[in-house]
Amino acid sequence: MESLIISSFSILLLWWCVIVSEAVMYGQVQSPQYPKPYPADLHQQWDLDVPQGYKIQLTFNYLDIEPSVNCFYDYLMVLHGKKILGRFCGQNSIDPDHPGNKPIMSPDNHLQLVFVTDDSNPGPQQPIGFSAFYQAVDVDECSLPVLEDSDPPCSQICLNTLGSYLCACHHGYHLRADQHTCVLDCGGGAFTESQGTLSSPGYPSNSPLAVDCMYNISVEPGFQIILNFSSTFHIEEIYNQGPTCLYHWLLVSIPGEKPRKLCGDKSPGVLHTGSPSVQLEYHTDNAGHSRGWSLHYTTQRVECEIRRSIINGRVTPDFAQYFYRDYIHVRCDLGYKLMMDGKEIRSFKSMCQHNGRWHMPLPECKIIDCGVPRPLLNGGVIFLSGSNNEYRSVIQYHCIEPYYTFRGTNYVNFTCASDRKWRASDNDAIVPPCYPVCGRPSVDLTLRDRVFGGRPAPEGSFPWQVFLMSGGRGGAIVIADRWLMTAAHNLENAKYDKENLKVYVGNIKISELLKFPSLAISSVHVHPGYKNNHMRTNFDNDIALIKLNSSITFNANVMPVCIPPQDAELNTFGLVSGFGMTEDWNTADNLRYISLPVVDQDKCHMWIEQERATRRDVAPLTANMFCAGLPEGKKDTCSGDSGSAFVMKDGDMYWVAGIVSWGVDCGQPGKYGIYTRVTQYANWIQKTMEEH
Ligand SMILES: *[C@@H]1O[C@H](CO)[C@@H](O)[C@H](O)[C@H]1NC(C)=O
Ligand SMILES: *[C@@H]1O[C@H](CO)[C@@H](O)[C@H](O)[C@H]1NC(C)=O
Ligand SMILES: *[C@@H]1O[C@H](CO)[C@@H](O)[C@H](O)[C@H]1NC(C)=O
Ligand SMILES: *[C@@H]1O[C@H](CO)[C@@H](O)[C@H](O)[C@H]1NC(C)=O
Repeated sequence: MESLIISSFSILLLWWCVIVSEAVMYGQVQSPQYPKPYPADLHQQWDLDVPQGYKIQLTFNYLDIEPSVNCFYDYLMVLHGKKILGRFCGQNSIDPDHPGNKPIMSPDNHLQLVFVTDDSNPGPQQPIGFSAFYQAVDVDECSLPVLEDSDPPCSQICLNTLGSYLCACHHGYHLRADQHTCVLDCGGGAFTESQGTLSSPGYPSNSPLAVDCMYNISVEPGFQIILNFSSTFHIEEIYNQGPTCLYHWLLVSIPGEKPRKLCGDKSPGVLHTGSPSVQLEYHTDNAGHSRGWSLHYTTQRVECEIRRSIINGRVTPDFAQYFYRDYIHVRCDLGYKLMMDGKEIRSFKSMCQHNGRWHMPLPECKIIDCGVPRPLLNGGVIFLSGSNNEYRSVIQYHCIEPYYTFRGTNYVNFTCASDRKWRASDNDAIVPPCYPVCGRPSVDLTLRDRVFGGRPAPEGSFPWQVFLMSGGRGGAIVIADRWLMTAAHNLENAKYDKENLKVYVGNIKISELLKFPSLAISSVHVHPGYKNNHMRTNFDNDIALIKLNSSITFNANVMPVCIPPQDAELNTFGLVSGFGMTEDWNTADNLRYISLPVVDQDKCHMWIEQERATRRDVAPLTANMFCAGLPEGKKDTCSGDSGSAFVMKDGDMYWVAGIVSWGVDCGQPGKYGIYTRVTQYANWIQKTMEEH
């Protein structure tokens, strides 16, 4: 405990001497040289300090100073600042009424003692001086008298503590930051729930005066606060050139809007703030009267507006209103596609955002199109209805008449379907091919007049006629766009090699035909039953097919002849065309033709056998051949005609019955021409064409 008495007690024997002690809880002060008599000529001062919040109580346990009237010579003075609390001399132990016998209390935590002595030393009974204790005494701030123009230490409850005091507030109030004053608890603060109730302090009792209550309602973005005021509402309204909320008000602040002051006795009812946060400030001043207010708030999701009508499309789901976090899709009507920023999109989805906007703008529904119709080989397409190849446009395919045709129909209609494909009425997306029309020459030579002797063929009368060169001259027959048929023996000189063959089509004059290069040949197919025939004594199976490298486009001058069904019956008459020799043994430039009757097979067989009996160079007649010609002769086919067609007519259609094959002394009376019987080979032709 001794160490607590921190006192730097150095006494300086100077005329002026100040003893300063640090703030301590208690201590002792004594005159110099105590308990010996004090010296003369002293002027000593002690500054006593105790901690803040305490006063100093000074108690003399001994006082003996030379007495004088008014303590004029020697004295001990107790001062507080400039105020003298006491001036002592004499002896307190002798005089019980001596002021030094009562403790002295300082107004605060400072006190000064000043001890002054004069130069005269009194007689033998020398006074000793003084000895005093001081101690810190707590101040009860709470019971201090309140000075005018100043506030009490605490506005409500004052609690004294050692060296200090504390303020406290009654229930429903709280201490302000100044630690002295109390304010009514507003029940304010932050409200973050999606709904809640708030009311003025004390509601439904009268509102206290001088309050400033803050209420912050703040919910998640995307939600909007709706205030619903109770019908009991009363905030003082002042009539000052009309009602004003001058002293009491409820200030409603919505971000981005001008704050609104509410007062009066009419409830504002329901207030849609349209905001996720709203601040309320209730203010009353020191006077007046307000009964207060109460409200219940709720939240609703932000609404996103939408342009509902989408041309040729629709928005799903179809709600009356769309709110924050709602999703919509846009679907286009059948035949329409979703377009956004000029680009097609597969699907569209948009969400209502917290700011009331859709995260994507609405797309457009644009009509689909099927694209430019595919061209049709040997055909064409025309538009029947619609435009720009759009949905439901109708187009019509046709083949180039009369050389090509669809099977079973002249036209095929296609409609642009919702899957962006051109589709026929049976839903098929494939355009049928155009098949060549066979055996219908533009110039039809009637067979009614039996013409005798060869005649120049008019243009377009034998469009299947091919001029063939294979060492010698010959003919061939167009039977399909990439296939020619000829006599196998025609290819012997060319050694059955396509390189040595030349074929020309499209004109009735050789001179014209030779102005253009030969058609390119891709392969040669000789009937497997045909035997190499250098001795020209076996013409059985005298048939071969030539495949062209590319398709011929048919027209009035080139057209295939029809292939008969297997084993079809022959007519009695037919027409043969060819570039071969005329009856006067000249080489023809112009294609010629003759009309010839078919000779009875037995009759021909007998004739051939007769010939064979006299000559060794005559081949036998087989069932794969037939004969045609007139007994009087002059009309026949000759060597240059080999490979050309013997055609017959059914209705308006020509079909190939024979291939000019061989003969005996052509054009002589009693001799006939012999033809490969094509009806025996229909299956082989079909098969060969399919396989190559
Ligand atoms: C209320 O909101 C305002 C503005 O956002 C803010 O400055 C204030 O601190 C808030 N008060 C409370 C009690 O949350
Ligand atoms: C507002 O509150 C009243 C009373 O509680 C209630 O009847 C009314 O339906 C509420 N209105 C709205 C829009 O919430
Ligand atoms: C193709 O359309 C035309 C025009 O609409 C119509 O006249 C014709 O009958 C249709 N043909 C077929 C095969 O559907
Ligand atoms: C036949 O056609 C093919 C491809 O189409 C080509 O490479 C070849 O040269 C053609 N042959 C002739 C002889 O034109």
